[in-house]
Amino acid sequence: MLNGKVAVVTGAARGLGRAIALRLARDGADVSVWDLNLEGAQETAEIIRQEGRRAIACGGDSANPADIAHAVEQTHRELGPVTILVNNAALSPFVFWDDLTEAIWDDLMAVNMKGPFLCCKAIIPDMREAGTGRIINISSSSAQAGSGFHAHYAASKGGVIGFTKALAIEFAGTGITANNVAPGFVNTEGLRAAPLEVDKVASVSPMKRAGRPENIAAAVAFLASDDADYVTGHTLSVNGGRYLN
Ligand SMILES: NC(=O)c1ccc[n+]([C@@H]2O[C@H](COP(=O)([O-])OP(=O)(O)OC[C@H]3O[C@@H](n4cnc5c(N)ncnc54)[C@H](O)[C@@H]3O)[C@@H](O)[C@H]2O)c1
Repeated sequence: MLNGKVAVVTGAARGLGRAIALRLARDGADVSVWDLNLEGAQETAEIIRQEGRRAIACGGDSANPADIAHAVEQTHRELGPVTILVNNAALSPFVFWDDLTEAIWDDLMAVNMKGPFLCCKAIIPDMREAGTGRIINISSSSAQAGSGFHAHYAASKGGVIGFTKALAIEFAGTGITANNVAPGFVNTEGLRAAPLEVDKVASVSPMKRAGRPENIAAAVAFLASDDADYVTGHTLSVNGGRYLN
């Protein structure tokens, strides 16, 4: 159980982030819900409070150092030091190669790769002080298996996997673990906004169906738990068999 622990979940106004925030709270954690969409973050925090845990919403960009510093300060003041960080916020637009510009590439890399780096920089001091920490990054089966019209996205998520492994080695022995969860197709607003039919794409995967946000949240909850204290640098694929390694 996660009682007495404080978790930060980025991009938790909806989709996987919201499901992860709710699951960590149901397992006992107090949760700081971060998102650009403050209204959605407030809704997530309100659901958690109604279920009896402490939760706050922090609006802002999880790739902007000033916004992160503000969110960390608010989290410390209202909930306390953080020992669980879930880097979930990301951009995932499908873009044809011919339309993929340097600006689109840079914008996505800022959120998907620099964001987790900056959030780790801001929160690892809490974990060091506590002598324990759980960093859980959300990567993607698109990095493992490839994904058309997603060169920038697949590259960023491959970077997240490498980043996670490097952190795992660097912090091994400090009580801080770093792992990533690689979802396959999961039915969220983000995926439904993509120019593809979610059920049709999912139907060619071995399980022939899309996953549920709760499937990803359960994997994150395991990696956040004491049971996972000897698991680090791992990529936990939750993908219905889309990619097997
Ligand atoms: N849904 C899937 O099938 C799937 C598959 C593989 C990986 N993933 C990954 O899972 C995570 C969540 O996916 P989702 O489908 O729930 O996405 P989503 O688009 O539905 O939600 C993303 C959330 O992140 C927030 N966000 C975006 N940029 C932000 C920023 N700079 N700062 C703060 N918040 C920001 C958005 O406002 C939104 O609330 C992402 O990392 C995504 O790449 C999803």
